Amino acid sequence: MNEQPRVLIDTDEEIDGLVILTLNRPDKKNALDQQMVDALHQALEPLETDPTVRCLIFRGAGDSFVAGADIAQLRERRAADALEGVNQQIFRRIAEFPTPTIAAVQGWALGGGCELAIACDLRVCSENARFGQPEVGLGIIPAAGGTHRLARLIGLGHARELIFTGQIIDAEQAQRWGLVNRVAPQDQWFEEARKLGRKICKNAAGAVRLAKSAVNQAADLDEAERDQLECRYQAICFDSTEKMERMTAFLEKKKK
Ligand code: COA
Repeated sequence: MNEQPRVLIDTDEEIDGLVILTLNRPDKKNALDQQMVDALHQALEPLETDPTVRCLIFRGAGDSFVAGADIAQLRERRAADALEGVNQQIFRRIAEFPTPTIAAVQGWALGGGCELAIACDLRVCSENARFGQPEVGLGIIPAAGGTHRLARLIGLGHARELIFTGQIIDAEQAQRWGLVNRVAPQDQWFEEARKLGRKICKNAAGAVRLAKSAVNQAADLDEAERDQLECRYQAICFDSTEKMERMTAFLEKKKK
């Protein structure tokens, strides 16, 4: 029997540069198994070097985003497997993707699903979305970015609460805590993510990529280094054709 591909790749028909990756294991709530991790690496590789890509949306097939790492596989893993950081590597690859990324979440985003969502730059969710890091209930920790990315995003207090209690929060609370950028009605969550994607894709592609890179690197730099990085990236923008064309278009429109 031919199994369905774990990740589906689509280009948006209307929005130039928007690519949609669908995690496709709906019968298991898109639980992240090795096959899906491999498929994600495979999907990202050509996209990373494709200059026409301007934004990625990650979503889950069926009624959920991702209900976590595959517990059947996790149970069989031992210390040496943990040290390989399988999920950590794929989420870092997503966090470092050269263009902005959006997690479009409906239903469950638990454990590795929540970590995948926070590895993305932005999160849009449906009113029925549920987020949580229930790992400690299963005798493990959220070790694919959960202990640091979550705190950077929603603050240490909220991150500690989610991680230590394993509690699951709804969309409204996720928005209050800054875990998601937008909450949309259940029939519009994906459209809302596309709206954000459309806005990103309209901007100068080079500037957006440099802006993301600067934002990502800032956390690891001191004040002076951050300033230097901004200057270097701005220097690239100042000499770019995109900047000249866009600013000229603005000024000429004003003259008419
Ligand atoms: N790993 C492996 N399988 C999973 C899974 C996971 N993380 N999450 C869901 N599934 C499987 C279920 O075992 C079930 O498989 P089956 O039909 O062969 O029995 C299928 O997906 C559907 O899930 P089900 O539990 O029947 O759906 P539900 O609507 O009753 O509950 C959840 C949904 C998400 C609340 C529940 O599946 C769950 O708690 N999953 C685990 C969440 C978790 O702890 N994630 C962190 C892992 S570190």
